[in-house]
Amino acid sequence: MNILLIGSGGREHAIAWKINQSSKLKQLYVLPGNAGTSEIAETVNDISAEDHQAVIKFCKEKMIDLVIVGPEVPLAAGIVDSLSAEGIRCFGPTQAAAQIEASKVFSKNFMARHNIPTARYATFTKLDDALGYLDKVDHPIVIKASGLAAGKGVILPETTEEAESTLKSILIEKSFGDAGTEVVIEERLEGQEVSLMAFTDGTSIVPMLPAQDHKRLLDGDRGPNTGGMGAYAPAPIFTKDLMNEALKSVLKPAIDGMRTEGNPFVGVLYAGLILTGNGISVLEFNGRFGDPETQVVLPLLETDLVEILNACIDGNLKDLDIAWKNESAVCVVLASKGYPEKVEVNKLVTFGNLPDNVVCFHAGTANVNKRVLTCGGRVFGLTAWAGDIQSAINAVYSNTKNVSFDGMQYRTDIAHRALKGSK
Ligand code: AMP
Ligand code: GLY
Repeated sequence: MNILLIGSGGREHAIAWKINQSSKLKQLYVLPGNAGTSEIAETVNDISAEDHQAVIKFCKEKMIDLVIVGPEVPLAAGIVDSLSAEGIRCFGPTQAAAQIEASKVFSKNFMARHNIPTARYATFTKLDDALGYLDKVDHPIVIKASGLAAGKGVILPETTEEAESTLKSILIEKSFGDAGTEVVIEERLEGQEVSLMAFTDGTSIVPMLPAQDHKRLLDGDRGPNTGGMGAYAPAPIFTKDLMNEALKSVLKPAIDGMRTEGNPFVGVLYAGLILTGNGISVLEFNGRFGDPETQVVLPLLETDLVEILNACIDGNLKDLDIAWKNESAVCVVLASKGYPEKVEVNKLVTFGNLPDNVVCFHAGTANVNKRVLTCGGRVFGLTAWAGDIQSAINAVYSNTKNVSFDGMQYRTDIAHRALKGSK
């Protein structure tokens, strides 16, 4: 198959790396990709994923048999609808189904309609109503811009004053633009978070290995929130019982609910779960592979990814056996100096040799005159897998010396929770 992958992050390098191992692959293209994907696939950087007509033309010219959409923005913009209308096979939800991520108001109301456990909430478009609600509630809260905000739209205010100024900034000053036309105010929950992704053809569901990521910049979960500083899988805290509970009370009602409401969801459904004293609760749904979670989950997948994606599109996922390595994987994000604020870029990267169970997924890199330069906050996801989590941790940290650029920073305690939780 000729395959086109859309996106440019660590998630896309991990998908491209896995696709590259498929016996079904003829030629892989990545739009726009990064320096890492350019080593294993052909880079497409003369068209934009926003220009659906240009992508359609490209797919026809290159006889693309399958398009895989990595990030949420093109999904929310309806790229799957545009390509499908031209008869181009596409992996990912339609615009209507992608609302499960693109509109937090839709997502919360959807969960309420289908009794999917989630924090108590209310939604607002008017500041006065939102402020009135703040006066009434007696529990800690979280404020969320409803629309897509590049992972920055969730605020956990510490004081009432901070909550009020956050609401003003979103609803009046439009700090998130149109993404903040509506806000969700929800109860703040306590517990460990688990990212559970699942393949689905709209009816059948196959969960992937549960992962945990680390959102804070510094060791010990201190410092500012980031897009994610590392991840590991499987998460030992997420037992078989919890997996069964998540299937029964979250994944199945979500997929059944989307289908019965006329928006069948085909693709990867990502449930951001929190394990509270009262059981599992859903913090968010995403309609795509997670980043960095994908960087630890796909190296543990034994089955050909292209076969799985085809089965999802063709509606016969239930006929496929999906197998996982009985191993653990750890990904440590190597970030630029200044991340997550103002980052230093254009630093030259040098690489040493990595063993077979370690791969350096590129996230923020560009190929300039055959040299790899940094071009973003999170530059790499250095990922290792091994028979147990401690060996995977050792493998990843003993190889950070094999990737180097000026100002490189990373956490030294990724996967610490797995060790505490393990026997
Ligand atoms: P979301 O994008 O909705 O998953 O939110 C991003 C992050 O904010 C989550 O991974 C949590 O760490 C935090 N968060 C979101 N909602 C809640 C909540 N109701 N209670 C506590 N933390 C939350
Ligand atoms: N790791 C969080 C996300 O992909 O949204």
